[in-house]
Amino acid sequence: MLEDMKALGLGVDIITISRMRDILETSGQVFMNKVYTPWEQERAGTHQDRTAYLAVTFAAKEAIFKTFGIGWETGVQFREIEIQDGPHGEPLPRLSGRFAELAAERGVTRLLLSLSYDGDYALAVAALA
Ligand SMILES: CC(C)(COP(=O)(O)OP(=O)(O)OC[C@H]1O[C@@H](n2cnc3c(N)ncnc32)[C@H](O)[C@@H]1OP(=O)(O)O)[C@@H](O)C(=O)NCCC(=O)NCCS
Repeated sequence: MLEDMKALGLGVDIITISRMRDILETSGQVFMNKVYTPWEQERAGTHQDRTAYLAVTFAAKEAIFKTFGIGWETGVQFREIEIQDGPHGEPLPRLSGRFAELAAERGVTRLLLSLSYDGDYALAVAALA
């Protein structure tokens, strides 16, 4: 029930698709392997706009990172967040590894994510509950 839901964290991130294009041109596969899971890398290839997909997925991971209010020294990795597709096209974030451990320690039962694009911008908002 929504009225029983307590927010445990909130995060937002915005990135331009042109910046993502630059990152991919300079860092290419190294960046891909550091940030995206094998499933996401495959999904990027079938998406109608690969760069926009990679941009919004990156924003999603940054937004989720921010919901925790932690630093990188905690050992979390972007690849421990996978943004899957729900049955209606909605994004379904899944945590593994250190991120999943942190979520369990904090009593997180839901991770909510919403994505949007407009022109060159890709934006993500995430919440822990
Ligand atoms: C927090 C982080 C996600 C910043 O992201 P960013 O896109 O550079 O910056 P944004 O403008 O989106 O957000 C900055 C704001 O986030 C907030 N913020 C900073 N650290 C934060 C943290 N650990 N948790 C939650 N929010 C944080 C602050 O309000 C900050 O504003 P300020 O700089 O005025 O204090 C940071 O961890 C980061 O630099 N991530 C990039 C890591 C990266 O690229 N790794 C390499 C992948 S290959």
